[in-house]
Amino acid sequence: MSDAPDVGELSPPNRTLMGPGPSDVHPRVLRAMSTPLVGHLDPSFVEMMNEVQELLRYTFRTDNEWTIPVSGTGSAAMEAAIGNLVEPGDTMLAPSNGYFGGRMGEMAERAGGEVVTVDAPWGEPLDPDDVAAAFAAHGDIDVFGFVHAETSTGVLQPEVSELTSIAHDHDALVIADTVTSVGGVELRVDEWDIDVAYAGPQKCLSCPPGASPLTLNDAAMEKVLNRETDARSWYLDLSLLEGTGARSGRTTTRRRSPTSTRSARRCGSSPRRGSRSAGRATAASRAR
Ligand SMILES: Cc1ncc(COP(=O)(O)O)c(C=O)c1O
Repeated sequence: MSDAPDVGELSPPNRTLMGPGPSDVHPRVLRAMSTPLVGHLDPSFVEMMNEVQELLRYTFRTDNEWTIPVSGTGSAAMEAAIGNLVEPGDTMLAPSNGYFGGRMGEMAERAGGEVVTVDAPWGEPLDPDDVAAAFAAHGDIDVFGFVHAETSTGVLQPEVSELTSIAHDHDALVIADTVTSVGGVELRVDEWDIDVAYAGPQKCLSCPPGASPLTLNDAAMEKVLNRETDARSWYLDLSLLEGTGARSGRTTTRRRSPTSTRSARRCGSSPRRGSRSAGRATAASRAR
């Protein structure tokens, strides 16, 4: 057997992060990441998860019980949302006006859904009239997805309540991609009637990637718990949350949890007294 590779001590360069994520992390978050490791069933961890859930509800402006950090980057929370809400045979209406809207459609197809699109030129938000026309044209649509801040174009979707009300008039559930908007621009999950929102920690929330916010209301969770087939991913199967005590802060699934990224998440979501804002400006806050 060869000798162990001599990689030395880790010494990453000190960069100022100016892109739309990962963004620079507050020293308080870095300190949280070097606190002692605890087990995912340790009472102190359970207590911290309760705090994380409370802080995420505050961040999303929601009372949703089902508000959790998903292990993984924003795409993991995205896949948890879409892969659980979309069943084989379902139809999802997805936007085609940006890269991440396209990814929503790809994930819905992998979940076994049929995808129809609502179009707008790249660089433009969706027009509510086009969304209404897409619902009228395609008949039964089960899930409507839109991107609140489309990172690929820097466009902020206005009139969110108008979009959600069109979808609900057609009995469709609404999934919002808020990866680049949360913490950077106004986002009101409950007031705007969004059923599911997922986000990323490494953008306007100034956390490291690894624990991605997700919130579902009762209507969305009812669909998840009454699926005819199991979600295709075991790791991201949200129905496994039922009975684990996730509502009261136990582990997010029946497996281990990356405990140190959750410590960082707790710090990243706390409003910092005396600081200008809980988040920092990235592409989304410059978006229209
Ligand atoms: C709007 C949007 N959705 C989803 C994602 C995917 O997030 P991640 O790269 O953290 O997996 C990104 C990442 O840039 C994004 O900007």
